[in-house]
Amino acid sequence: MARNYFIAGNWKMHKTRAEAAALAKELVAALKDGGHKYLVAPSFTALETVAALVKGTNILLGAQNCAVEEEGAHTGEVSALQLKDLDVQTVILGHSERRHLYKEDDELVNRKVHIALKHGLDVILCVGELLEEREAGKAEAVCRRQTVEGLKGVSAADLSRVTIAYEPVWAIGTGKTATPEDADAVHAYIRGVVGELYGQAAAENLVIQYGGSVKPENAAALMAKENIDGALVGGASLKAATFVPIAKF
Ligand code: 13P
Repeated sequence: MARNYFIAGNWKMHKTRAEAAALAKELVAALKDGGHKYLVAPSFTALETVAALVKGTNILLGAQNCAVEEEGAHTGEVSALQLKDLDVQTVILGHSERRHLYKEDDELVNRKVHIALKHGLDVILCVGELLEEREAGKAEAVCRRQTVEGLKGVSAADLSRVTIAYEPVWAIGTGKTATPEDADAVHAYIRGVVGELYGQAAAENLVIQYGGSVKPENAAALMAKENIDGALVGGASLKAATFVPIAKF
């Protein structure tokens, strides 16, 4: 497989600056000889601190969200321009917590994708079905819709700056991981959808991460699957003791 594994830690709303710095330092040391592509996504408040520590290393800096507007009267929002100013390289968009807790719909996520790409940020676009959608046999339809709508208007050239993360919502923070077979089947489906939109070669090159209760114990079995090209890790990314073994699976 020609695709490069991409292992990312989404720290969500955890860690003070001091705690974030301590973890970043541990990861920089532990992953300097790691063979994959790495990223950490701290809270906005810790981005500047972590940026200084990962600069010049093999760990990329990500943000967990960005505003849909470039600037203006948007109290509480952080723009793509402001993230670039902090040396952020990549932004996670459409995370299920943004979609479900903060009511972000496909159209909003798509607008954010465009703003991020326009300002030179790479994108991790998250897709994934709720438990009731899976039980109703709608997992593929939901992932198709979120992929098609999320990528609407994105050029083939810009697609090379997009990673998709398949995160079944029922597996996030629950300890329930999708089986490698089930996850791989959805990844293959999403790759097929991207193939319909951008052609076979672009789909083959697309990196699709799996997210949802990835742990040191299950990472290797997931990564062994043909269509699983990395991981977007939540809980287990908060400690070097659990993130490093995943990153070096
Ligand atoms: P957990 O690894 O805690 O299940 O979270 C996954 C996730 O949402 C990463 O974005």
